Amino acid sequence: MSQDKKTRQAPQTTGHVWDGDLQEYNNPVPDWWLIAFYISIAAAVGYWLVFPAWPIGGTYTKGFDTITYVNDKGVTKTTHWNTRALFLKKTNEAVAAQKPYYTKIANTPFEQIAKDPDLNSFVISAGKALFSDNCAPCHQQGGGGKMGLAPNLTDDDWLYGGHFTQIQQTITNGRHGYMPPFKTVLNDTQMTELADYVLSFSKVPVNPASAQAGNALFHSETAACYYCHGADAKGRTVIGSKNLTDNIWLWANVPAAQTVADKENVIKNVIYHGLDKGVMPAWKDRLSADQIKLLTVYEHDLGGGQ
Ligand code: HEC
Ligand code: HEC
Repeated sequence: MSQDKKTRQAPQTTGHVWDGDLQEYNNPVPDWWLIAFYISIAAAVGYWLVFPAWPIGGTYTKGFDTITYVNDKGVTKTTHWNTRALFLKKTNEAVAAQKPYYTKIANTPFEQIAKDPDLNSFVISAGKALFSDNCAPCHQQGGGGKMGLAPNLTDDDWLYGGHFTQIQQTITNGRHGYMPPFKTVLNDTQMTELADYVLSFSKVPVNPASAQAGNALFHSETAACYYCHGADAKGRTVIGSKNLTDNIWLWANVPAAQTVADKENVIKNVIYHGLDKGVMPAWKDRLSADQIKLLTVYEHDLGGGQ
Protein backbone atom coordinates (compact mmCIF):
# COMPACT_ATOMS: atom_id res chain seq x y z
CA MET A 1 0.00 0.00 0.00
CA SER A 2 2.80 2.44 0.92
CA GLN A 3 4.48 1.67 -2.35
CA ASP A 4 1.26 2.73 -4.12
CA LYS A 5 1.13 6.11 -2.41
CA LYS A 6 4.82 6.82 -3.10
CA THR A 7 4.54 6.37 -6.82
CA ARG A 8 1.36 8.46 -6.96
CA GLN A 9 2.79 11.51 -5.18
CA ALA A 10 6.38 11.12 -6.23
CA PRO A 11 7.84 13.26 -3.43
CA GLN A 12 11.48 14.29 -3.32
CA THR A 13 13.31 12.60 -0.47
CA THR A 14 16.78 13.00 0.98
CA GLY A 15 17.42 9.38 0.20
CA HIS A 16 17.74 8.38 3.87
CA VAL A 17 15.65 5.38 4.83
CA TRP A 18 15.04 4.09 8.35
CA ASP A 19 13.25 0.94 9.41
CA GLY A 20 12.88 -0.07 5.79
CA ASP A 21 10.22 2.48 4.77
CA LEU A 22 10.66 5.63 6.92
CA GLN A 23 11.97 8.37 4.58
CA GLU A 24 12.81 12.03 4.92
CA TYR A 25 11.15 14.50 2.53
CA ASN A 26 13.28 17.18 0.98
CA ASN A 27 10.83 20.05 0.40
CA PRO A 28 12.50 23.46 -0.09
CA VAL A 29 11.51 26.16 2.49
CA PRO A 30 9.07 28.74 1.06
CA ASP A 31 10.62 31.84 -0.55
CA TRP A 32 8.96 34.29 1.81
CA TRP A 33 10.55 32.45 4.74
CA LEU A 34 13.98 32.49 3.16
CA ILE A 35 13.77 36.22 2.36
CA ALA A 36 12.70 37.06 5.92
CA PHE A 37 15.56 34.93 7.21
CA TYR A 38 18.20 36.82 5.20
CA ILE A 39 16.69 40.19 6.06
CA SER A 40 16.87 39.40 9.75
CA ILE A 41 20.52 38.41 9.44
CA ALA A 42 21.26 41.67 7.64
CA ALA A 43 19.30 43.62 10.28
CA ALA A 44 21.24 41.93 13.09
CA VAL A 45 24.56 42.90 11.48
CA GLY A 46 23.19 46.45 11.08
CA TYR A 47 22.33 46.61 14.76
CA TRP A 48 25.77 45.37 15.76
CA LEU A 49 27.33 48.22 13.79
CA VAL A 50 24.98 50.94 15.02
CA PHE A 51 24.40 50.09 18.70
CA PRO A 52 26.51 48.68 21.56
CA ALA A 53 26.60 44.92 20.99
CA TRP A 54 29.53 42.57 21.52
CA PRO A 55 31.58 42.20 24.69
CA ILE A 56 35.32 42.28 24.04
CA GLY A 57 37.45 41.63 27.11
CA GLY A 58 36.54 44.25 29.71
CA THR A 59 34.72 46.49 27.22
CA TYR A 60 32.32 46.15 24.28
CA THR A 61 31.70 47.36 20.73
CA LYS A 62 30.08 50.80 21.09
CA GLY A 63 28.41 51.19 17.69
CA PHE A 64 28.37 54.22 15.38
CA ASP A 65 25.22 55.87 16.75
CA THR A 66 25.60 58.78 19.16
CA ILE A 67 23.28 60.54 21.58
CA THR A 68 23.46 64.06 23.03
CA TYR A 69 22.06 64.85 26.46
CA VAL A 70 22.56 67.14 29.44
CA ASN A 71 23.97 65.23 32.42
CA ASP A 72 23.00 65.79 36.08
CA LYS A 73 25.72 68.48 36.42
CA GLY A 74 24.17 70.45 33.58
CA VAL A 75 26.95 69.61 31.09
CA THR A 76 25.96 68.77 27.51
CA LYS A 77 27.53 65.48 26.46
CA THR A 78 27.64 63.46 23.27
CA THR A 79 28.36 59.78 23.66
CA HIS A 80 27.68 56.44 22.00
CA TRP A 81 24.01 55.49 22.17
CA ASN A 82 22.97 53.90 25.48
CA THR A 83 19.78 53.59 27.50
CA ARG A 84 21.01 55.64 30.47
CA ALA A 85 21.77 58.62 28.21
CA LEU A 86 18.43 58.05 26.49
CA PHE A 87 16.68 58.22 29.87
CA LEU A 88 18.48 61.48 30.74
CA LYS A 89 17.65 62.91 27.32
CA LYS A 90 13.94 62.09 27.78
CA THR A 91 14.05 63.62 31.26
CA ASN A 92 15.70 66.77 29.83
CA GLU A 93 12.94 66.97 27.23
CA ALA A 94 10.20 66.56 29.83
CA VAL A 95 11.75 69.26 32.04
CA ALA A 96 12.13 71.56 29.03
CA ALA A 97 8.49 70.99 28.08
CA GLN A 98 7.38 71.92 31.62
CA LYS A 99 9.62 74.96 31.87
CA PRO A 100 7.30 77.50 30.18
CA TYR A 101 4.50 76.45 32.54
CA TYR A 102 6.67 76.84 35.63
CA THR A 103 7.85 80.24 34.44
CA LYS A 104 4.25 81.28 33.98
CA ILE A 105 3.30 79.95 37.43
CA ALA A 106 6.20 81.89 39.00
CA ASN A 107 4.90 85.09 37.40
CA THR A 108 1.17 84.61 38.03
CA PRO A 109 -0.53 85.57 41.32
CA PHE A 110 -2.03 82.60 43.20
CA GLU A 111 -5.64 83.62 42.58
CA GLN A 112 -5.12 83.87 38.81
CA ILE A 113 -3.49 80.48 38.25
CA ALA A 114 -6.64 78.39 38.57
CA LYS A 115 -8.50 80.77 36.26
CA ASP A 116 -6.17 80.08 33.33
CA PRO A 117 -7.52 76.79 31.90
CA ASP A 118 -4.20 75.78 30.31
CA LEU A 119 -2.22 76.50 33.47
CA ASN A 120 -4.87 74.91 35.64
CA SER A 121 -4.74 71.59 33.81
CA PHE A 122 -0.94 71.64 34.13
CA VAL A 123 -1.29 72.25 37.89
CA ILE A 124 -3.65 69.30 38.18
CA SER A 125 -1.49 66.82 36.27
CA ALA A 126 1.94 67.94 37.55
CA GLY A 127 0.53 68.48 41.06
CA LYS A 128 -0.85 64.97 41.14
CA ALA A 129 2.53 63.49 40.17
CA LEU A 130 4.45 65.64 42.68
CA PHE A 131 1.92 64.83 45.37
CA SER A 132 2.06 61.07 44.91
CA ASP A 133 5.89 61.10 44.84
CA ASN A 134 6.40 63.30 47.89
CA CYS A 135 3.28 63.71 49.97
CA ALA A 136 1.18 60.57 49.56
CA PRO A 137 3.35 58.40 51.85
CA CYS A 138 1.93 60.42 54.76
CA HIS A 139 -1.17 62.21 53.46
CA GLN A 140 -2.23 59.18 51.39
CA GLN A 141 -3.07 59.02 47.71
CA GLY A 142 -5.66 61.71 47.01
CA GLY A 143 -4.78 63.60 50.22
CA GLY A 144 -7.37 61.99 52.50
CA GLY A 145 -4.88 61.72 55.38
CA LYS A 146 -4.53 59.04 58.02
CA MET A 147 -5.46 59.01 61.69
CA GLY A 148 -2.36 59.36 63.88
CA LEU A 149 -0.09 60.10 60.90
CA ALA A 150 -1.02 63.13 58.81
CA PRO A 151 -4.10 65.32 58.39
CA ASN A 152 -6.72 65.16 55.67
CA LEU A 153 -5.92 67.87 53.14
CA THR A 154 -9.22 67.70 51.27
CA ASP A 155 -11.51 69.06 53.99
CA ASP A 156 -12.20 72.57 55.31
CA ASP A 157 -10.36 71.91 58.54
CA TRP A 158 -6.96 73.63 58.56
CA LEU A 159 -4.44 73.31 61.35
CA TYR A 160 -2.22 76.03 59.96
CA GLY A 161 -4.66 77.87 57.72
CA GLY A 162 -5.95 77.37 54.19
CA HIS A 163 -4.91 80.67 52.58
CA PHE A 164 -2.41 80.37 49.74
CA THR A 165 0.40 82.02 51.71
CA GLN A 166 -0.26 79.82 54.75
CA ILE A 167 -0.17 76.62 52.69
CA GLN A 168 2.98 77.83 50.95
CA GLN A 169 4.57 78.49 54.36
CA THR A 170 3.58 75.02 55.57
CA ILE A 171 5.12 73.26 52.57
CA THR A 172 8.24 75.45 52.36
CA ASN A 173 9.32 75.43 56.01
CA GLY A 174 7.44 72.47 57.44
CA ARG A 175 5.40 72.46 60.68
CA HIS A 176 5.71 70.82 64.05
CA GLY A 177 2.68 70.77 66.32
CA TYR A 178 3.41 70.59 70.03
CA MET A 179 1.14 70.16 73.02
CA PRO A 180 2.71 69.66 76.46
CA PRO A 181 1.84 66.63 78.62
CA PHE A 182 -0.49 67.32 81.57
CA LYS A 183 0.20 64.19 83.59
CA THR A 184 1.81 66.12 86.43
CA VAL A 185 -0.59 69.07 86.23
CA LEU A 186 -4.05 67.49 86.20
CA ASN A 187 -5.58 64.55 88.03
CA ASP A 188 -7.68 61.83 86.46
CA THR A 189 -11.05 63.42 87.31
CA GLN A 190 -9.97 66.74 85.83
CA MET A 191 -8.87 64.99 82.64
CA THR A 192 -12.21 63.21 82.38
CA GLU A 193 -14.01 66.54 82.82
CA LEU A 194 -11.90 68.15 80.11
CA ALA A 195 -12.48 65.17 77.80
CA ASP A 196 -16.24 65.48 78.40
CA TYR A 197 -16.13 69.19 77.61
CA VAL A 198 -14.23 68.54 74.36
CA LEU A 199 -16.55 65.65 73.40
CA SER A 200 -19.69 67.70 74.07
CA PHE A 201 -18.91 69.72 70.91
CA SER A 202 -19.16 66.50 68.89
CA LYS A 203 -22.56 65.63 70.35
CA VAL A 204 -21.21 62.70 72.35
CA PRO A 205 -23.73 62.03 75.18
CA VAL A 206 -21.38 62.86 78.08
CA ASN A 207 -22.35 63.74 81.64
CA PRO A 208 -23.38 67.45 81.38
CA ALA A 209 -22.18 68.33 84.89
CA SER A 210 -18.76 66.86 84.11
CA ALA A 211 -18.58 68.73 80.78
CA GLN A 212 -19.54 71.92 82.66
CA ALA A 213 -16.64 71.42 85.08
CA GLY A 214 -14.40 70.75 82.08
CA ASN A 215 -15.49 74.00 80.49
CA ALA A 216 -14.35 75.89 83.57
CA LEU A 217 -11.04 74.02 83.67
CA PHE A 218 -10.44 74.57 79.95
CA HIS A 219 -10.60 78.31 80.52
CA SER A 220 -8.76 78.27 83.84
CA GLU A 221 -5.12 79.10 84.46
CA THR A 222 -4.56 75.56 85.81
CA ALA A 223 -5.07 73.75 82.52
CA ALA A 224 -4.85 76.80 80.26
CA CYS A 225 -6.14 74.87 77.25
CA TYR A 226 -7.79 78.05 76.00
CA TYR A 227 -4.39 79.64 75.70
CA CYS A 228 -3.49 77.41 72.74
CA HIS A 229 -6.86 76.18 71.50
CA GLY A 230 -8.61 79.55 71.86
CA ALA A 231 -11.48 80.54 74.12
CA ASP A 232 -13.92 79.06 71.58
CA ALA A 233 -11.79 75.85 71.36
CA LYS A 234 -11.57 76.30 67.60
CA GLY A 235 -7.78 76.27 67.50
CA ARG A 236 -5.20 78.81 66.46
CA THR A 237 -3.55 78.48 63.05
CA VAL A 238 -0.35 80.21 64.21
CA ILE A 239 0.58 77.17 66.31
CA GLY A 240 -1.54 74.57 64.55
CA SER A 241 -3.53 73.72 67.66
CA LYS A 242 -6.47 71.70 66.51
CA ASN A 243 -10.02 72.90 66.28
CA LEU A 244 -11.63 70.74 68.96
CA THR A 245 -15.22 71.54 68.03
CA ASP A 246 -15.60 70.17 64.47
CA ASN A 247 -15.58 66.43 65.18
CA ILE A 248 -12.53 66.00 62.93
CA TRP A 249 -9.74 64.15 64.72
CA LEU A 250 -6.13 63.53 63.94
CA TRP A 251 -4.57 62.02 67.07
CA ALA A 252 -7.42 61.07 69.39
CA ASN A 253 -9.23 58.35 67.46
CA VAL A 254 -12.67 59.29 68.73
CA PRO A 255 -14.60 57.79 65.77
CA ALA A 256 -13.11 54.33 66.33
CA ALA A 257 -13.84 54.35 70.08
CA GLN A 258 -17.17 52.66 70.74
CA THR A 259 -18.42 53.68 74.17
CA VAL A 260 -18.43 57.12 75.79
CA ALA A 261 -15.80 55.87 78.24
CA ASP A 262 -13.58 54.75 75.35
CA LYS A 263 -13.97 58.14 73.68
CA GLU A 264 -13.07 59.85 76.97
CA ASN A 265 -10.00 57.65 77.23
CA VAL A 266 -8.56 58.50 73.81
CA ILE A 267 -8.89 62.22 74.63
CA LYS A 268 -7.46 61.74 78.11
CA ASN A 269 -4.55 59.90 76.57
CA VAL A 270 -3.70 63.00 74.49
CA ILE A 271 -4.04 65.30 77.53
CA TYR A 272 -1.94 62.98 79.70
CA HIS A 273 0.95 62.45 77.25
CA GLY A 274 0.73 65.65 75.19
CA LEU A 275 1.62 65.59 71.47
CA ASP A 276 4.98 65.90 69.78
CA LYS A 277 4.75 63.65 66.74
CA GLY A 278 2.97 65.97 64.32
CA VAL A 279 5.92 66.70 62.05
CA MET A 280 5.35 68.04 58.57
CA PRO A 281 8.76 68.05 56.85
CA ALA A 282 10.15 71.19 55.17
CA TRP A 283 10.39 70.94 51.38
CA LYS A 284 12.47 74.02 50.52
CA ASP A 285 15.62 71.93 50.00
CA ARG A 286 13.89 69.14 48.10
CA LEU A 287 11.51 70.99 45.78
CA SER A 288 12.02 74.20 43.83
CA ALA A 289 10.10 77.33 44.84
CA ASP A 290 8.04 76.96 41.65
CA GLN A 291 7.17 73.35 42.43
CA ILE A 292 6.09 74.43 45.92
CA LYS A 293 3.96 77.19 44.43
CA LEU A 294 2.36 74.68 42.09
CA LEU A 295 1.70 72.27 44.97
CA THR A 296 0.23 75.15 46.99
CA VAL A 297 -2.34 75.82 44.27
CA TYR A 298 -2.97 72.08 43.82
CA GLU A 299 -3.43 71.73 47.60
CA HIS A 300 -5.63 74.81 47.85
CA ASP A 301 -7.96 73.50 45.15
CA LEU A 302 -7.89 69.92 46.44
CA GLY A 303 -10.37 71.00 49.04
CA GLY A 304 -11.41 73.78 51.30
CA GLY A 305 -8.80 76.38 50.36
CA GLN A 306 -9.60 79.74 51.91
C1 HEC B 1 6.46 62.47 56.93
C2 HEC B 1 5.05 62.66 56.70
C3 HEC B 1 4.62 63.81 55.82
C4 HEC B 1 4.96 64.08 54.51
C5 HEC B 1 5.88 63.30 53.62
C6 HEC B 1 4.22 65.26 54.14
N1 HEC B 1 3.47 65.71 55.19
FE1 HEC B 1 2.25 67.32 55.17
N2 HEC B 1 1.87 67.04 57.16
C7 HEC B 1 2.32 65.99 57.92
C8 HEC B 1 1.86 66.14 59.29
C9 HEC B 1 2.12 65.17 60.44
C10 HEC B 1 1.12 67.34 59.33
C11 HEC B 1 0.45 67.95 60.54
C12 HEC B 1 1.49 68.64 61.37
C13 HEC B 1 1.01 68.90 62.75
O1 HEC B 1 0.17 68.15 63.22
O2 HEC B 1 1.50 69.83 63.37
C14 HEC B 1 1.13 67.87 57.96
C15 HEC B 1 0.50 69.04 57.58
C16 HEC B 1 0.41 69.49 56.28
C17 HEC B 1 -0.34 70.65 55.86
C18 HEC B 1 -1.12 71.56 56.78
C19 HEC B 1 -2.55 71.11 56.87
C20 HEC B 1 -3.37 72.01 57.72
O3 HEC B 1 -4.43 71.55 58.15
O4 HEC B 1 -2.98 73.16 57.95
C21 HEC B 1 -0.20 70.77 54.50
C22 HEC B 1 -0.82 71.83 53.60
C23 HEC B 1 0.65 69.67 54.07
N3 HEC B 1 1.00 68.91 55.18
C24 HEC B 1 1.02 69.45 52.77
C25 HEC B 1 1.97 68.52 52.40
C26 HEC B 1 2.52 68.43 51.08
C27 HEC B 1 2.10 69.29 49.89
C28 HEC B 1 3.44 67.43 51.11
C29 HEC B 1 4.33 66.95 49.97
C30 HEC B 1 5.21 67.93 49.40
C31 HEC B 1 3.46 66.88 52.46
N4 HEC B 1 2.55 67.59 53.21
C32 HEC B 1 4.27 65.85 52.87
C33 HEC B 1 3.10 64.94 57.49
C34 HEC B 1 3.68 64.85 56.23
C1 HEC C 1 0.95 74.79 74.21
C2 HEC C 1 -0.26 74.73 73.44
C3 HEC C 1 -1.32 73.74 73.85
C4 HEC C 1 -1.95 73.60 75.06
C5 HEC C 1 -1.68 74.38 76.35
C6 HEC C 1 -2.94 72.58 74.87
N1 HEC C 1 -2.91 72.11 73.60
FE1 HEC C 1 -4.10 70.62 72.86
N2 HEC C 1 -3.06 70.70 71.13
C7 HEC C 1 -2.10 71.63 70.80
C8 HEC C 1 -1.63 71.40 69.47
C9 HEC C 1 -0.56 72.19 68.74
C10 HEC C 1 -2.34 70.28 68.98
C11 HEC C 1 -2.20 69.63 67.61
C12 HEC C 1 -0.91 68.88 67.54
C13 HEC C 1 -0.60 68.36 66.18
O1 HEC C 1 -1.50 68.29 65.33
O2 HEC C 1 0.55 68.00 65.96
C14 HEC C 1 -3.24 69.87 70.05
C15 HEC C 1 -4.12 68.80 69.97
C16 HEC C 1 -5.06 68.47 70.93
C17 HEC C 1 -5.98 67.37 70.85
C18 HEC C 1 -6.03 66.32 69.73
C19 HEC C 1 -7.07 66.63 68.70
C20 HEC C 1 -7.13 65.54 67.64
O3 HEC C 1 -7.52 65.88 66.50
O4 HEC C 1 -6.84 64.39 67.90
C21 HEC C 1 -6.77 67.43 71.95
C22 HEC C 1 -7.90 66.49 72.30
C23 HEC C 1 -6.32 68.54 72.73
N3 HEC C 1 -5.28 69.15 72.08
C24 HEC C 1 -6.89 68.95 73.93
C25 HEC C 1 -6.28 69.85 74.79
C26 HEC C 1 -6.76 70.13 76.14
C27 HEC C 1 -7.99 69.50 76.76
C28 HEC C 1 -5.88 71.00 76.67
C29 HEC C 1 -5.85 71.54 78.08
C30 HEC C 1 -5.58 70.53 79.07
C31 HEC C 1 -4.89 71.30 75.67
N4 HEC C 1 -5.17 70.59 74.53
C32 HEC C 1 -3.81 72.17 75.86
C33 HEC C 1 -1.60 72.63 71.61
C34 HEC C 1 -1.95 72.80 72.95
